[in-house]
Amino acid sequence: MLSVRNLHVNLNGKQILHGVDLDVTDGESLVIVGCSGTGKSVLLKSILGLVPKQRGTVIIQGIDLDHATKDERHKALSCIGMLFQGGALFDSLTIWENVAFGLIYGQGMDPGAAQEIAFEKMQQVDLERRTAFLYPASLSGGMRKRVGLARALASQPKIIFFDEPTTGLDPITSNIVNDLIVRSVKYSEIGAITITHDLGSLRQIADKVAFLCNGKIIWTGSVEGLDNTENPYVRQFVDAKTVGPLTDKRN
Ligand SMILES: Nc1ncnc2c1ncn2[C@@H]1O[C@H](COP(=O)(O)OP(=O)(O)OP(=O)(O)O)[C@@H](O)[C@H]1O
Ligand SMILES: [Mg+2]
Repeated sequence: MLSVRNLHVNLNGKQILHGVDLDVTDGESLVIVGCSGTGKSVLLKSILGLVPKQRGTVIIQGIDLDHATKDERHKALSCIGMLFQGGALFDSLTIWENVAFGLIYGQGMDPGAAQEIAFEKMQQVDLERRTAFLYPASLSGGMRKRVGLARALASQPKIIFFDEPTTGLDPITSNIVNDLIVRSVKYSEIGAITITHDLGSLRQIADKVAFLCNGKIIWTGSVEGLDNTENPYVRQFVDAKTVGPLTDKRN
């Protein structure tokens, strides 16, 4: 479904990614963890072509983005839904228009039909109907996060990228979001890449875990593997120790 090989990204002279490889298959949920500022969000954005890559290959549903026609590229990228870490909502559009944006402007769907889908997706993320006609500025941070999630799901993507889907949500809403991710992946057979610092959420949603450190994926394994690994970087992260190789590198 998605294959990334040897991805290198350099931004403003700083090498962010140094050769990342990853694969996601149908119905598989990959969770990426790693310290703040290591390039997790940049990794997802570079797969989508939102930040330029220096080197490497991205293949989405068999289409190599560097050797694709404009139509093939559009087809490949429209398979992907993305929940951005900061929401990235359009301030001047109402909530339902934000959720329906890709349906109306990307797929050319009739606005009435798109509005129905927007309402349905909003309900799935526990957003009340009354919020549909408000603007993002009048929503709380957690509500905006859920609007971003509803938008990512609205176009029925085959692969979804969730960048910190539960950050800033209360524990109950976090569980609603975790369930939604699991249901989407298992029942709709989509592939998912989730970035999270929330280890409780990781335990609920991950089939496979990848640990990003210094621009590379230095460890991959299962959730059980995460609990049992002796890799010192992963151990320090999971056990939240203030002393260890991750903090040595920072100092
Ligand atoms: N558009 C950009 N231009 C220049 N540098 C950028 C850009 N976006 C991100 N960076 C830099 O890339 C590095 C990685 O950022 P990124 O947002 O991917 O971190 P992250 O792993 O997602 O962290 P967090 O867990 O805090 O969200 C940071 O040093 C950041 O300053
Ligand atoms: Mg990030």
